[in-house]
Amino acid sequence: MKKIITGGTIVTAADTYKGDVLIEDGVIKQIAASIQDVDAEIIDATGKLLFPGGIDPHTHLDMPFNNTVTDDDWQSGTIAAAFGGTTTIIDFCISAGSPTLMDAIDTWHGKAKDKAVIDYGFHLMIGDLNEQRLKELPEALERGGISSIKVFLAYAKEFQATDRTLFQAFKVGQQLGATVMVHCENGSVIDELVEEAKANGQTEPIYHALTRPPEVEGEATKRAIELANLAGAQLYVVHVTCKEAVDEIISARNKGYNVLGETCPPYLVLDQTALEKPNFEGAKYVWSPPLRPVEHQEVLWNALKAKQLQTIGSDQCSFSFNGKKTLGKDDFSKIPNGGPFIEDRFSVLYSEGVAKGRITENEFVDMISTQSAKIFGLFPKKGTIAVGSDADIVLFDPTAKRTISAETHHMNVDYNAFEGLEITGEPTSVLVRGDYVIQDKKFVGKLGSGQYIRREVKSSTKVTS
Ligand code: URP
Ligand code: ZN
Ligand code: ZN
Ligand code: ZN
Repeated sequence: MKKIITGGTIVTAADTYKGDVLIEDGVIKQIAASIQDVDAEIIDATGKLLFPGGIDPHTHLDMPFNNTVTDDDWQSGTIAAAFGGTTTIIDFCISAGSPTLMDAIDTWHGKAKDKAVIDYGFHLMIGDLNEQRLKELPEALERGGISSIKVFLAYAKEFQATDRTLFQAFKVGQQLGATVMVHCENGSVIDELVEEAKANGQTEPIYHALTRPPEVEGEATKRAIELANLAGAQLYVVHVTCKEAVDEIISARNKGYNVLGETCPPYLVLDQTALEKPNFEGAKYVWSPPLRPVEHQEVLWNALKAKQLQTIGSDQCSFSFNGKKTLGKDDFSKIPNGGPFIEDRFSVLYSEGVAKGRITENEFVDMISTQSAKIFGLFPKKGTIAVGSDADIVLFDPTAKRTISAETHHMNVDYNAFEGLEITGEPTSVLVRGDYVIQDKKFVGKLGSGQYIRREVKSSTKVTS
């Protein structure tokens, strides 16, 4: 069935213009000032903005972590994403616990297959990087259709790479043309600070932030930057939170290093004082790196605006407050790290960014969709509204006003970190490859309709943005 979206304003990373969009076989067939076709279903988008579907480059669905497992799986997680205007996610497939990397990839396909309602890809997250894993990598990436790997410099007891394995990962990334994503915090120093705090009887959630200061993020960012450059690899720094890290990224980019950076909505909107909330409520805001003092927010906005940071990931990694977060009731270091953001990533960036005049609507599209598509090998199939691209389209009402709340969100957790935040703008309908997943704010999608998107490793990882 053909569809024509008529009367809307198309917004891409480059342009804003009025136009009709003809969709056939899941793909955008034509864009013109006015399209007539008696066989097509007409979608009236008068007064709406048409955005390319959001691409979330950083999610953790149904992931074992911190002695438990995240509360959103591929059903609740992708439905919530769709409500929020996201049509593609790239989730972290973790290798730990699987005999081979191909087994890990198969496990992740099993989690997603009958549940996902939007399209998806995987990054390969190698928390147990060793000679064996390095040997398996080339074939796993090629057979798996994966063009990015992730390494941790934090979580000393679970995933942390040594400098040597980090450097080996960069060498492999360079050889294979894969982007190497790094969680930059110095996990060994953090462990020392955590033990010190606990020895002093400091057990409340705020000590999560105080034992992971910006300096340990800045130091690890600098180290990853230098080692990636030495190996000739493309580095993508995930969840950048602070001036210390931003300064390193800007200084490296100014020297021509191949470094890209992502930040996440909570760091733009919330600050470290949230972890001081009484009655253990601070645990709702425990993730890593932690929230920072409020002055870091402006540094992040400026870096986004200047294109020194390119993307917005949700870092969706949800644990219920009255459930799994209580594992750390008496000890902040046992609070599972992560928060629920997959649904609100898109609207919070629109409201705090575009509606408040910090960024243009075209910059918004670039950060929320286009850059992730380009960096991770999905463009131009995804990440834009253009003839030949997948018809992943968000109808967005820029005048809607609403208040974010756990009572109305669709994520499988009992709290929302943005509870009470008043925002402007709302996705009203969301199409994935031309099919409605959300229609007039109701879920109408089909479980398992999301498609796995294979991504080819690049012959050159140089991305200019
Ligand atoms: O606290 C976080 N960010 N949890 C998810 C895992 C990670 O570090 O990205
Ligand atoms: Zn991380
Ligand atoms: Zn991460
Ligand atoms: Zn993450």
